[in-house]
Amino acid sequence: MVKVLVAGFKGRMGNTTVQMVLEHEGFDLVGVFDPMASEKNLNENPAYSQTDVPVFTNLANIKTDAEVWIDFTRPTSVFENTKFALEHGISPVIGTTGMTDDQVKELQALAKEKQVGGLIAPNFGISAVLLMQFAKQAAKYLPDVEIIEMHHDNKLDAPSGTALNTAKMIAEVRKEHYQGNPDEKETLPGARGANYEGMRIHAVRLPGYVAHEQVLFGGKGEALTIRQDSFDRISFMSGVAVATEKIRNYSELMVGLENIL
Ligand SMILES: NC(=O)c1ccc[n+]([C@@H]2O[C@H](COP(=O)([O-])OP(=O)(O)OC[C@H]3O[C@@H](n4cnc5c(N)ncnc54)[C@H](O)[C@@H]3O)[C@@H](O)[C@H]2O)c1
Repeated sequence: MVKVLVAGFKGRMGNTTVQMVLEHEGFDLVGVFDPMASEKNLNENPAYSQTDVPVFTNLANIKTDAEVWIDFTRPTSVFENTKFALEHGISPVIGTTGMTDDQVKELQALAKEKQVGGLIAPNFGISAVLLMQFAKQAAKYLPDVEIIEMHHDNKLDAPSGTALNTAKMIAEVRKEHYQGNPDEKETLPGARGANYEGMRIHAVRLPGYVAHEQVLFGGKGEALTIRQDSFDRISFMSGVAVATEKIRNYSELMVGLENIL
């Protein structure tokens, strides 16, 4: 049994993760963490009345024998949470997006020093992992690319971690270059979107959406669009479960679910 702590359990993804961990026969939920919680034990919540699991509301007070720390929290807290997990020998499985490259590098160095395996996955959905791989392949032949990501209107960070990761993966095979007319002018600021090495990234926020992405490639007289849709948060759970099962076999902090599939 893998002992698991879920951080951000009061949130949309955290709540779905708690249900997955409780239903998974190989996982043992040993703690949940969320500063917004008012209960001391999960069993105070009518939905989990048979589940005796301690609730933590403050990072400094967490005492746990958890082996894996699953994190779906906030861009402002994920760095400290991951650092805490690594320092306590707990393998982080991080779904929270919005960390800077420098923060990720610092955490990777810490994981190496502590010899603790961990995973940061901007997207745990298989359709998104495949989209990123297909997009990287296509960009070798069609290097003019724009990305449109679409999310629910409660999302805090923009562009999405998946869109940024898609751009980074494409940048591994695409030479940085300017796209569009060199003389173009934005008559409304932001109209052309964010700029990653010349690729434009557009972030849509609308109620009703969950998580969706399109990568558009244009060539002479042709175009290719690759699209993925996550309609339900349950779609991320098989990826989270695989990471939770396997992550203790590693001794470094990796970025991207594809590293462990
Ligand atoms: N990797 C993926 O596949 C994937 C999929 C969906 C969402 N996400 C990301 O997961 C994160 C959470 O998304 P959500 O929709 O569940 O958000 P949410 O706002 O519904 O939930 C976040 C929860 O974190 C809690 N929280 C705040 N500070 C905390 C801290 N210091 N420690 C622990 N918990 C804390 C909040 O109280 C809240 O309950 C976002 O960054 C989102 O982009 C990732």
